[in-house]
Amino acid sequence: MRLILITGKGGVGKTTMAAASAALTAGQGQKVLLVSTDRAHSLADALDTPLGSEPVEIDAGLSALQVDTQASFQQSWAVLRRYLVDLLGSGGVDAMAAEELTVLPGAEEILALLAVRDQAASGRWDVVIVDCAPTAETLRLLALPRALSWYMERILPTHRRMVRGLGPLLGGVTLPGDGVTEAVTQLHAELLGVQALLDDHGTSVRLVLTAEAVVLAEARRTATSLVLFGHRLDSVIVNRLIPGGGDAWREAWAAAQAAQLTEVEASFPGLPVRRAAYLAAEPVGLPALAAIGADLYRNGDPLAPPPPSVALDVRRTPDQDGERFELFLPLPHAEREAVQLARSGDELVLTVGGYRRLLALPGVLRRCRVTGSDLAGGRLRVVFRPDPDLWPTS
Ligand SMILES: Nc1ncnc2c1ncn2[C@@H]1O[C@H](COP(=O)(O)OP(=O)(O)OP(=O)(O)O)[C@@H](O)[C@H]1O
Ligand SMILES: [Mg+2]
Repeated sequence: MRLILITGKGGVGKTTMAAASAALTAGQGQKVLLVSTDRAHSLADALDTPLGSEPVEIDAGLSALQVDTQASFQQSWAVLRRYLVDLLGSGGVDAMAAEELTVLPGAEEILALLAVRDQAASGRWDVVIVDCAPTAETLRLLALPRALSWYMERILPTHRRMVRGLGPLLGGVTLPGDGVTEAVTQLHAELLGVQALLDDHGTSVRLVLTAEAVVLAEARRTATSLVLFGHRLDSVIVNRLIPGGGDAWREAWAAAQAAQLTEVEASFPGLPVRRAAYLAAEPVGLPALAAIGADLYRNGDPLAPPPPSVALDVRRTPDQDGERFELFLPLPHAEREAVQLARSGDELVLTVGGYRRLLALPGVLRRCRVTGSDLAGGRLRVVFRPDPDLWPTS
């Protein structure tokens, strides 16, 4: 199954491009599900059809659903979230992790992930296309399963010990009953399932932008964050391109956009950059959306396999000072000032522009110290040398 997550800055045309891609793909004979996570119901407006929380067939091979944020889940997530925050804040987890609490997302976001996972697991679809929230929320969402699993693996043992041994109150944290333990355990298992889906080789992210400097700058930062978290960016869609010709105002916009388009091509080497014209009217309804889709993918397959995700590359490179290892990670567009590196036990903590990734170090590097790092040609290099305290000497 192919899972395509469509994101981009607010208002650039994510919903329109998600629907256009889905309409075209269904027309090509695939069984397609279009999922919206937007509470504003824009997808229903774009399709001009009411949607519910279960898939509704809106055309041959094309179904759509609107993730429903049920009140009951909202409440139970609020309780769980409060509990996790209190527990971490009370000192169970180190300061770095506690700082991360601010990024715990809301119920809608979790529900969206779980709904997508359920649909993917149903076996009903060849393709699931998700009309995501604007970039920042989407990135938070994509990072969530891994981050939350990391906490849970540390919290749960502590929690169980506390429940068993220490009574209902510890350090100001009120311990809930076993129901919460079960809920946290279940959520953990579900998030692992979501993570497996996000890591699947059929899953990719498609970025929508407009040909404007500010929008491109954000898209470049998004591309960096996606790589940081190991997600695959499969292509870029530049929307609202103003056709040239006509009056001076229109000519000026067309020229400015053409210049930005060159920048877009240079920013995403090796990736298809697709284009959509600024239409004279809002594209509403399936025929209009399918026409955009046909134009968008006239030179390429909307389901082309995504490029492989970039993995950590570790090399042994001894030099005159002795044993040495280098770890490489591509970080396109990242600027030196935005990158922070720290070591926490067996993990490397990499922060890029406010997004943090914990990278589990391979065995050999756990016995090393970080002795240097640099960022050149869109690639981070971290130098490790054996830690004499941990390295067996013969
Ligand atoms: N190429 C286009 N030509 C004309 N109108 C367009 C085009 N693309 C999108 N629109 C219109 O622009 C508006 C915003 O588009 P859309 O809802 O797809 O953006 P979005 O990125 O999903 O927004 P949000 O961030 O609010 O979810 C809609 O009214 C849509 O019909
Ligand atoms: Mg939208």
